[in-house]
Amino acid sequence: MKINKDQLFLKNISENESKIERLVKVSFAANGFTPVEKTITDGLYWGENFFFLNKSSLWKSLKEEQKFRILSRMNEHLLREAYYIENAGMLYAAKMNIIAESQEERSFFSIMGFEEAEHLQSLTPFLNANITASDVPSFSSHIGKIITEGDRPSNLFLIQILLEGWGLSYYQTLAEQSADKGMREVFLRIIKDETRHHSAGVLLLEKKQTEQNTFLLDAFHELLNMVRIGPWTLIQEIKKEVGDLSEKHTKILISEINAVSDTNQKLARLKLLTEKSLGDELLNKFQKNGIWLSYSEEDMLKAHS
Ligand SMILES: [Fe+2]
Ligand SMILES: [Fe+2]
Repeated sequence: MKINKDQLFLKNISENESKIERLVKVSFAANGFTPVEKTITDGLYWGENFFFLNKSSLWKSLKEEQKFRILSRMNEHLLREAYYIENAGMLYAAKMNIIAESQEERSFFSIMGFEEAEHLQSLTPFLNANITASDVPSFSSHIGKIITEGDRPSNLFLIQILLEGWGLSYYQTLAEQSADKGMREVFLRIIKDETRHHSAGVLLLEKKQTEQNTFLLDAFHELLNMVRIGPWTLIQEIKKEVGDLSEKHTKILISEINAVSDTNQKLARLKLLTEKSLGDELLNKFQKNGIWLSYSEEDMLKAHS
């Protein structure tokens, strides 16, 4: 089943409170959904420790207003990513609903679609209103491509097992390290649903369908490469603020924020999820040399310059 690109991330309706938006809110309320309020007002839900910046000498030398601008933009990046992921989740559930192989499966994906809509709704009070469907981050675009173009096994493995599985630990960290009580509650609520979504993927995937699947393999390697490159967005945001950041200082920054070991930890989590769902033998067929290893500091430097 093929979905057109313009069906992927949709525009919001322009009027502030459109009739359909009101109907969405009424429907959520009828299903017992209660919105969570934010408790902090400066928009810094995650601070310097979350990004490992507290360990950086360059960071410590910046002015408070520079730090604020970098953290503000990084917070916005995180929330934008979450916004697109939850949007993609709704489309994913709709696609899997259409290609479901039993009535029970169809029921599951109907519920999953509702839950993804609820996740998006619960994030709304924290989101900047000017997110547009035309400015999609590259990681979300890749996820969108898998959903729109991938076959059933590719979707089950890459989206439901790998990304939703990874999302569990990522959202847990977002919850634990957020300065906002409301935000913590939102992510802890979402995790409960994502645990079921991930488990259903493991149940539904027939391992043999992942063999000799070139779409799956290519999309899988592209996804890992997007992780291997390290904290690209963070380094770009710091460079924007410190215009003349030399190669030497960029390298020190990469080293002080433990970019390589942090990236290796993320890859190790993805590898564990892959091993659990595919088994060693199949996993070996998937592997290219070094695909589970972070870029070295030198390679990160080249990629970030
Ligand atoms: Fe979700
Ligand atoms: Fe989900």
